[in-house]
This record gives sequence, C-alpha cells and structure tokens, in this order.
Amino acid sequence: MDDKFLYIANWKMSLTLNESLNYLSSFYDPFVALAAHETTKLIIAPSTEGLFPIAQVIKDSGIELAGQCCASHERGSLTGQTSALSLRELGCTYCIAGHSERRRLAGETDTAVAKQVSCLLSNDIIPIACVGEDDAAYQNKTTLNSLENQLSPIVEVVQQSSNKRTPLCIAYEPHWAIGADKAANNDHIDSVLAWISTYLEKSSLGRPYRLIYGGSVTSQNGARLKEIKHISGFLIGRASLDFQELEKIVHYN
Ligand code: PGA
Repeated sequence: MDDKFLYIANWKMSLTLNESLNYLSSFYDPFVALAAHETTKLIIAPSTEGLFPIAQVIKDSGIELAGQCCASHERGSLTGQTSALSLRELGCTYCIAGHSERRRLAGETDTAVAKQVSCLLSNDIIPIACVGEDDAAYQNKTTLNSLENQLSPIVEVVQQSSNKRTPLCIAYEPHWAIGADKAANNDHIDSVLAWISTYLEKSSLGRPYRLIYGGSVTSQNGARLKEIKHISGFLIGRASLDFQELEKIVHYN
C-alpha cells in the first residue's frame, strides 16, 4: 500500500442518484485534480445505486470507488443485500464495513462485520473496517474494551484469510463524534490509534494496514487532526458533500 493520505468521501444516503451524478459532474475537473495530488488518494463512497454510473464517470480518473457496506455472505437468498463479488464487478477497490450507522440502524453485529471483512478480502477489496465507542463507553472510560470487542473478530478473519495481498484499513470513528458539532480531540484520538496500532502489530496480520479517523472532520479541524501520529486518512461525511470544504481539507496537506 502506498503512503498517500486517504480521503474517503462517505456520501451515505445524503444524495439521490441524480444528485450524486450532478455533484460529480459539476466539480469533475477539480475532483480529478484533488485525486491527482501526489500525496492524496481520493475515494468516493456513493450509495449503492450510484456505484455503477459513478464507476463509468470516474473510469481512469484516479478517483477510486468504495461501497458503503456489503453482505456478510458471498451469495444467497439475502434480499436487499449487495455481495462483495458484485462490488468488485462494479469497480470498487474499497468498501466500508461496520459503520456505526449500519451497526445501529441495520443491527450489524461485531461478528457480521468481521464476516463482511472476510468477504471483502476474498474479493480483493480493501476493507475500511469501522470501530468506535458509543457515548456511554466514552463517558465510562471503557473505550478500549468496546474497541477490543469490535476489533478481535475482525483481526481473526484477517489472520485466517488466504488472501494475504490485500491491505486493511481500520477507521476509528467514535459514535459521539459522527454527525456532531466537533471532532474528538487529538489526545483522545492519538491514544486510541496508538492502542489500535499496538493491537494490530501484536496480531501478525501479515499485510499492511492503515489507521483512519472519522467523525466531524471539517476544514476547521483537518489540519490539527493530520498532526496525529498514526493517522493516514479521513472518513468524511457531511464535509464531503460541499466541494469547497472537501478541497480545503485536502489542501491542508
Ligand atoms: P461526519 O460523518 O463527517 O458527517 O461526522 C462521518 C462518518 O459517518 O463517517
């Protein structure tokens, strides 16, 4: 994995299909310019229905495509689900797994998220596996217990995967900082990423990994968040829907 800083624009379900295409076409050249920056990798995660048309638009542009989620099984009677295999056919090189909104709204368990990671690795898609504590755990100072519960099944499937080529991204997203007024502070993120890094180092993953932060990243806090030692990317929700804002975050490099 190269050492470019990852900017993952998670458009969630904030835009309709037509709005996604309009947004991308209105800023196509500047989007491509951002992706072409030598220290930057730009990844767009549109909602599932946008993957196919957006893949056509960004073909050969340097912008990469990510799914927002995938099924925990390779294929089968799973109404409404999208397989990792289809995501690969659609051109996704990355896919988010276990975003807190999926855990909360779709009931995705730690085990289901780990299975998604396994399916993604089997299909050579880089998982962006999200972990993070909820507000209660943060207040009770049990953040690391929550993270260990989420990380350990992920690490287990990564160790067991026969595909040793595909890297892993772990996105630390404290639930209380997502869609909030402000991001977590640097000391907190720094200590959590250091802990995750030690945990992964001890786990002999046999592949490169990256640590990413997500939760209210904006142009106001991007520069200070980039100072965090183990950070090598951002998962950006709301700010990625405003091109000028996204551009400012990237240009703090
Ligand atoms: P936010 O979302 O940047 O709007 O807080 C981040 C995320 O959910 O990944």
